[in-house]
Amino acid sequence: MCGIVGYVGDRQAAEVLLSGLARLEYRGYDSAGVAILHDHGHDHNHDHDVDADDDAGNGNSNSNGNGALTLRKSVGKLAALREALDAEPLSGSVGIGHTRWATHGRPTVANAHPHRDCSGDLALVHNGIIENYASLREELRREGHSFLSDTDTEVIAHLIETYWNEQDTKQPTGSEYVQTSQPGLRLAAAVAAAMRRLKGAYAIAVMHRDEPGTIVAARKDSPLIVGLGQDENFVASDIPAVLEYTREVVILHDDELAILSADGVTVLNTCLEEQEPELLHVAWSLEAAEKGGYEDFMLKEIHEQPTALRETLRGRLVDGVVQLSELELDDAEIAGLNQVFIIACGTSYHAGRIAEIVMEVWARIPTEVQASSEFRYADPIIDEHTLVVAITQSGETADTLAGVREARARGAKVMAITNVVGSRVTREADGVIYTHAGPEIGVAATKTFTSQIAALNILALKLAQSKGTLEQRVIEDIYDELSSLPELVANQLLHQDEIQACASGDCCINACTSLFLGRGIGVPVAMEGALKLKEISYIHAEAYPAGEMKHGPIALISPEVPVIGIATNAATYEKVISNIEEVRARDAQVMLVGTEGNEELRHYAEHVFYVPEVSELLSPIVATVPLQLLAYYIAKARGCNVDQPRNLAKSVTVE
Ligand code: F6R
Repeated sequence: MCGIVGYVGDRQAAEVLLSGLARLEYRGYDSAGVAILHDHGHDHNHDHDVDADDDAGNGNSNSNGNGALTLRKSVGKLAALREALDAEPLSGSVGIGHTRWATHGRPTVANAHPHRDCSGDLALVHNGIIENYASLREELRREGHSFLSDTDTEVIAHLIETYWNEQDTKQPTGSEYVQTSQPGLRLAAAVAAAMRRLKGAYAIAVMHRDEPGTIVAARKDSPLIVGLGQDENFVASDIPAVLEYTREVVILHDDELAILSADGVTVLNTCLEEQEPELLHVAWSLEAAEKGGYEDFMLKEIHEQPTALRETLRGRLVDGVVQLSELELDDAEIAGLNQVFIIACGTSYHAGRIAEIVMEVWARIPTEVQASSEFRYADPIIDEHTLVVAITQSGETADTLAGVREARARGAKVMAITNVVGSRVTREADGVIYTHAGPEIGVAATKTFTSQIAALNILALKLAQSKGTLEQRVIEDIYDELSSLPELVANQLLHQDEIQACASGDCCINACTSLFLGRGIGVPVAMEGALKLKEISYIHAEAYPAGEMKHGPIALISPEVPVIGIATNAATYEKVISNIEEVRARDAQVMLVGTEGNEELRHYAEHVFYVPEVSELLSPIVATVPLQLLAYYIAKARGCNVDQPRNLAKSVTVE
C-alpha cells in the first residue's frame, strides 16, 4: 500500500517523483525516498548518500563510469524529503521514488526505500510483502551479502544483484542469462530470475547504473501501472501519480515486467517474451483516480477486503504449523495461560467479541472481552498467567494504550493487533501481530475489521495447536477455509444490487431507528452492523441478542423500524428465525443476512442478502460485508459524508 513512482525522460526526475509521490499521499506513509541516476555533465555529483534524517546509508554510490546513483531518504512527510532535495539537489532524468508505509521494520531512514544492493549500483523500490524474505536473507548472507535495513525489500535488491552478476560469469543456459545489447534487458533478466524465487506480493521498480536510461518494473499481486508520455515514460503504483503528465496507461498484470526508456515501453513475461500491453485511457478526474474510481474511500476499502485478508493470512500455516512467532510464547508458556483477556474499542471491540467465541471453542481457554475504557478502571483480575490481547487498528487509541499499561503492570503478557507499523501500541505491547490491511482512510473501519478477525483466528489456531485442543487435520481444514475467504468475499462484492436497492427504499432512508439481531457469533456481527449504520448514516441503530429482544426492545418494533437479522447457517438458526417471526408479526420491515441457497429466508424478509456458505465460526467476515455495504448505501442515499462522519476521528488519541 506504499507508493511507487518512476520516471525516465527529459525532465528533472526529482521533481516528477516528488509530484507523483504527493499524488499518492492519500494512501498514507511514514517515510519517503528517491534514487536518481546522475546525468553526466551536471553539477551535483555526490560520492555518498546524503540521508535527510540520519546517517543510515544504504550502500556506496559510484561516481566513475556511468553517472552516480544517489539516494535521498527521510522519515515523515514528503516535505522533509523535499527539504533534503532543496538543500542538496539531485539532477538527473531517470529516477525512482517511494513512500513507505512500514510493514517490516520501523519507519526509519535505513528502512525507507529505495534500497540498494552491495555494489550500490542497483536501486529498488517495492510495495507488498515478501513472505520468504527471512530464508532468502539468510541464504544471501551466507553468500556474503550484507544488509543495512530490517526490510523484506532489501532482500530483493540483493537477489537481483546475484542474478545480475551471474550473467557475467555463467554461460547462457536459458532466458535468464541474456546476451544482448537491448537496453534494460540484462536488468530485466536478473529481475525475472529473482521473481522466480520470491514468494508473496510485490510491485517493484528497479534501476541500475549500468543500464542508464532505463527502469525495470515488475509485479505480482500488487498493483503497478506504466504511464506513457511523449519521449518520457512513468511507472507508478497507482494512476493518480501520473495523471498530471499523461492519461494513457498500461496496466501491468501479475508476473509481467516492463522495461521503460524515454523512447518506449516493452512488456515481458518472466521468460522475457514480449507481451501485448493492456492499454487504458483514463478519463477520471484526479480525485476519482485517488479513490481508484470508487466514489469514496470507504467503498474502495470495502472492496479492498479480499486483498487485505490475503495479506493478513499470508504464510500463517507452513508444513502444518501455525506461524505466529510474534507471540513469543513457547508451548509450555501457552500451556501455563489460564485466560485470554481482550481489550479494544468500537469496531475493534466487536472483533474481540468474535474472537472470544472462537478462542473458547478452538483453544478451550476462558476468554473475556472488555471495552478498554472500562478495563482500565475495572481492577481486572489478571496476572502473569493471562494473555492480554489489545486490538486497535490505529495503534493510537488512548484507552487501549492505557489498558495495555495497566495489563503489563499486573504482570500479564500483552499482544497488540494493529494495522499501523510503528504506532504507539507497538512500542508499549510485548508483541505485535500486524494485520497488513494497508492504509485505511475512511473513518469507519471496514477492511481493518475483517483483517482483525482473520488475525484473531490465526491467534486462536495457534493457541489451539500449542494446547492440543484441535486435531491437526482440523487446524489444516480451518486454515484452508480461512484461505478461501478472500475469494469468497471478492465474489460477494460483485453482487450488491439487492443491497443497493434495499438501501434506497423509503424504509431505510427515512428510518429513525433500527434493530440488528443475531445469536451466538451473529451478535457481534449485528453490533458491528449497527455501529456502521449509526456512525455514517446517523440513523440510530441498536444491536441485540435476538433471544433477548422480547425482554425489552420488542417494544420498539413498528412498521417504520427496519430490523436486520443475521440468519446465516448456524446452530441457532431456527431460533433466529423464531425471533424474526416475532418481529414480522408486529409488521417490522425485515432484512436478513443468510446463507446462499436458503430460499426459505425469502418468506421471512423483504430483502435477503445472501452470503457464501462457510463454517459458523468463520461466518462473521462474510456476514459483515453486506452490513458494511448496507450502511454505506443508506448513508449515501441520505447525502452523508461517509468518509468523514461528523464528530469522529480515525484515531482517538484522547480518553
Ligand atoms: C468504527 C470505528 C471506531 C474504532 C474505534 C477504535 O468504524 O472506526 O469505532 O473502531 O475508535 O479504534 P482503533 O481500532 O484504532 O483502536
